[in-house]
Amino acid sequence: MRSLIDIQQLSVEEIDELIAKANDIIAHPEAYREKCKYKKLATLFFEPSTRTRLSFEAAMYELGGQVLGFSEAQSSSAAKGESVSDTVRVVSGYADIIAMRHPKEGAPLVASMAATVPVINAGDGGHLHPTQTLTDLLTISREKGRLDNLTIGFCGDLKFGRTVHSLIAAMARYENVKFALISPAELKLPSYIKKEILQEKKLEYIQTTDLSSVMPQLDILYMTRVQRERFFNEEDYLRLKDSYILTPQKLENARSDLSILHPLPRVNEISTAIDSDPRACYFKQALYGKYIRMALIMKLLEVE
Ligand code: CP
Repeated sequence: MRSLIDIQQLSVEEIDELIAKANDIIAHPEAYREKCKYKKLATLFFEPSTRTRLSFEAAMYELGGQVLGFSEAQSSSAAKGESVSDTVRVVSGYADIIAMRHPKEGAPLVASMAATVPVINAGDGGHLHPTQTLTDLLTISREKGRLDNLTIGFCGDLKFGRTVHSLIAAMARYENVKFALISPAELKLPSYIKKEILQEKKLEYIQTTDLSSVMPQLDILYMTRVQRERFFNEEDYLRLKDSYILTPQKLENARSDLSILHPLPRVNEISTAIDSDPRACYFKQALYGKYIRMALIMKLLEVE
């Protein structure tokens, strides 16, 4: 029995296999319609979500399985004080696999130690979001035809943006990937990630507050939302929330083959005028999330 808490638990070969499987599902969805017949997925979401929860649920339905769960802590017995460990021990008797989102960092890891079925981390606080990373990798692979030899710019809230943390860890394992870290000083990438991943592996990166200065070099621009829910005070959030708003004008010095990604939800950081630009990939990216989660559910349930 295997869980997925951190993207680094998957080898590069396993990620490549998941991407290949997702591509096959996209090409031949009918071949997968009964792969998880009689299997159940529990979605335990202690924090709001649209894409992750619904794409997990759609993924299980499209594999012929069934879904149960809750979408907010208040509608579960967590509201009465039940622990995460007790919750998943009980739910392990009701479902074959669990996807869990929780505001506390490490909660899905704790859950995986108490559960008797695989647990998937669907986002834990400002920490990690491995299935978003798989989604991002599938998107990059489909858009660029490769995951190596790329320059990727991360822009916005690099401090609290868990999708950024997981994607940097994943991209760092491919050859000749360069990073541009674009954020206000207060929202810089945590130093432990810089130290343990970028510096430890001697990867090329620059840190800047100025998006336009790095734009011409980028193959991928990964925009992020300023994570209001992680701020200690509203004043700081209001001051920083519109630090970067991507507009057509700001793309004037960008490459014609740039791919613009965003894990969504978007608030204000990408103008809707960009949505019709062929370089905008974020709605496709959200769709790909369903296919890569289908591939992951099959892998963790050991379905051939
Ligand atoms: N990208 C993402 O995690 O979106 P949701 O919060 O809507 O699940």
